[in-house]
Amino acid sequence: MSDPMIDAELARTCWDDAALAWDDFVEHGDYYRSELHGPALLDACGDLAGRDVLDLGCGQGWFTRRLAGRGARVTGVDWSPRLIERARRYEADAPQGARYAVLDAAQVDAHFAPASFDLVTGCMSLMDMPAPGAALAAARALVRPGGRIVMSVTHPVTEATYRAWERDAQGRKLSLRIDRYFEAGTTLVDWNMARVATPFRTVVYRKTLEQWSALIEEAGLVITRLREPRPDAETIARRIELADAARVPFFLLFELRAAA
Ligand SMILES: C[S@@+](CC[C@H](N)C(=O)[O-])C[C@H]1O[C@@H](n2cnc3c(N)ncnc32)[C@H](O)[C@@H]1O
Repeated sequence: MSDPMIDAELARTCWDDAALAWDDFVEHGDYYRSELHGPALLDACGDLAGRDVLDLGCGQGWFTRRLAGRGARVTGVDWSPRLIERARRYEADAPQGARYAVLDAAQVDAHFAPASFDLVTGCMSLMDMPAPGAALAAARALVRPGGRIVMSVTHPVTEATYRAWERDAQGRKLSLRIDRYFEAGTTLVDWNMARVATPFRTVVYRKTLEQWSALIEEAGLVITRLREPRPDAETIARRIELADAARVPFFLLFELRAAA
């Protein structure tokens, strides 16, 4: 179910207002990103040396910088001017040659020549876009023949409308209760967990697996690989908070290519 009061401009403003709090969270609180879905997405990107890469919904550039660190010629775009300002500041402090632009991912194909990238990425950004189908179609227009789109999203199953851990008397997690999966829609999400220093709100456009599949097909793309990253024993030993991510999938990675 969607809240009719939530429009795209509210979604963009939320991200812009959250820029400093999000930056702090990404750099200091988001261990799922640093230990799990970030490395998995980078791994899925493969060899990046000398590749032209476009990072959609790049935020303050956390993933963009990692792409550049692997030798990619990378451009990050985001519709939030404040997040792009943060990204440019990181680039100025430690230059890697990453470029940034304030752009709506849904219209990004109007700003670059067709087929000018080897790879288009989206690190946890497509489910935060009001028109992810348009962004995917734009990405398709921008990848060279044989190019790929590699993106991560929150896992549709565990990102269901109702989600709560059932716990024992000691507070240990027994099982994850999921309900109202098919009520996917647009909602305001409060980021007020313990690992978020300064709470903020953003808009999320929840989708079922079937809806993602349909969007991908409508954009003229096919899924060539799916991954559900989960931590190995060594990662859990280092960061015990990630143990729950070895029980249920929190993230989903898509590798996409243009349909024949
Ligand atoms: C969860 S954040 C992820 C940011 C970044 N990729 C990262 O991993 O840190 C989602 C990002 O998507 C951006 N976004 C949402 N809709 C967008 C759109 N239509 N065009 C460009 N960026 C968008 C937001 O501004 C936000 O920076």
